Amino acid sequence: MRAALGVASECAPLVKTGGLADVVGALPAALAPEGWQLRTLLPGYRQVIAALGPAPAVLAQADLFGGPGRVLAGRAGGLDLLVLDAPHLYDRAGTPYLDLAGHDWPDNPERFAALAWMAARIASEGTEGWKPEVLHLHDWQAGLAPVYLSARGDAVASVLTIHNIAFHGLAPADRLWRLRLPPEGFTPDGFEYYGHISALKAGLVQATRLSTVSPTYARELATPAFGMGLEGVIRSRAGDLVGILNGIDTTLWDPAADPHVLPFRSAAGKALNRARLIAEFGLGPGEGPVCVVVSRLSDQKGLDLLLQAAPALTDRGGRLALLGSGDRALENAWLKAADTSDRIGVRIGFDEALAHRMFAGGDAVLVPSRFEPCGLTQLYGLRYGAVPVVALTGGLADTVIAANDAALAAGVATGLQFWPLTVEALAAALLRLCELHADRGLWTRMQRNAMRHPVGWAASAAAYARLYESAVAAQ
Ligand code: ADP
Ligand code: GLC
Repeated sequence: MRAALGVASECAPLVKTGGLADVVGALPAALAPEGWQLRTLLPGYRQVIAALGPAPAVLAQADLFGGPGRVLAGRAGGLDLLVLDAPHLYDRAGTPYLDLAGHDWPDNPERFAALAWMAARIASEGTEGWKPEVLHLHDWQAGLAPVYLSARGDAVASVLTIHNIAFHGLAPADRLWRLRLPPEGFTPDGFEYYGHISALKAGLVQATRLSTVSPTYARELATPAFGMGLEGVIRSRAGDLVGILNGIDTTLWDPAADPHVLPFRSAAGKALNRARLIAEFGLGPGEGPVCVVVSRLSDQKGLDLLLQAAPALTDRGGRLALLGSGDRALENAWLKAADTSDRIGVRIGFDEALAHRMFAGGDAVLVPSRFEPCGLTQLYGLRYGAVPVVALTGGLADTVIAANDAALAAGVATGLQFWPLTVEALAAALLRLCELHADRGLWTRMQRNAMRHPVGWAASAAAYARLYESAVAAQ
């Protein structure tokens, strides 16, 4: 087996705020059949240290950005982990990024610089005879690792995967010294971004290879509309960037063996889960499709548009169950919508088991994102026969076969796509959804297609293995 080290701020099932965690948690098992042993370096948040239990320290650093740190080696959640135990950085109540009041931790730049720093040390020194050939870095939290590696004079191959280019990991310029960054890198060709330090840009410029989580997002990233100010850097590295679609863990997400749901193998078997979902959300009667949304409530996800377009669904007997959390104003707006319509049910919070029940019970899953690097909930929807209704962007464009006339004639449609990102276009898609749902034969065919669509990791794991190999060869 060849050795690689994944470096990330989240990893399911231990710590999760979004899809990044699912992907980081799934990659090791996906890559093993490709001949790669992928260990994962994570920050030692409270729940990660607790899940790890007693574990030996394999590397220590007396002064890790304001206190001592050590790397613990062990297993938890079915994963082979290296955990950065540094209580001054990670032993706190809150999420990986926010305090209990919902504000960014002021020392986030140092917290994740420390992660990148230790990744670079492991890559160049190894731990107890184990040394990765390649670092697989995820998002800005790991972006500084190639800078630290080259500052050490070490050439270890690295792959940076962009899960979301909206988050740059910015720090004020006067933190340069505290972040132990080489001042000569603070230029527009390096990690400087409009007078700030950008951890993401550092990785984009210096990693051996780049990837993102869908082919369409890889193309979108090179445009001003999606590149979030980094489109120039992306274009300069176009030859080193590939889009590799996310898969899902088809063992954890298996409708026939999911402990959170009443197991089912075909669309017909969804009926009991549907009834249970309607009861759980207290939805009133209606003949139309039962739609679900499981999402972070942030501007990215377009759920403000859905709020306005929802009458197109509910006026036709459709119903909507939403599970999400995030933006307070959006949370309140959705709670208010649920108060005013008995065809809308809302749960604010993060609830993994409920998410499973929703995909199992829903006829359709709605994903009206303004941008979506890949998106996982449409994949869960496909697997569980909840037909995806998605915006035509990013990975949503790459994973759903839209029910246009050609796809319907060929009998291959798996969902609906809409564009542009307007209330009108979304409302039209919801109207179309109601029409398709009313045609029982057609609807059952679409559900069956959806459930058969391959959503596992096999093809993408092979693509990652090739990417690792090309990074090693290029270094
Ligand atoms: P993103 O990473 O941008 O949030 P993805 O669709 O890639 O979007 O992944 C979101 C992941 O988080 C999915 O696994 C989804 O089921 C899960 N998720 C999002 N919000 C919630 C929630 N409130 N409760 C449970 N799971 C959630
Ligand atoms: C990000 C993106 C999402 C993607 C996930 C995992 O959070 O917003 O589209 O599926 O990362 O790659």
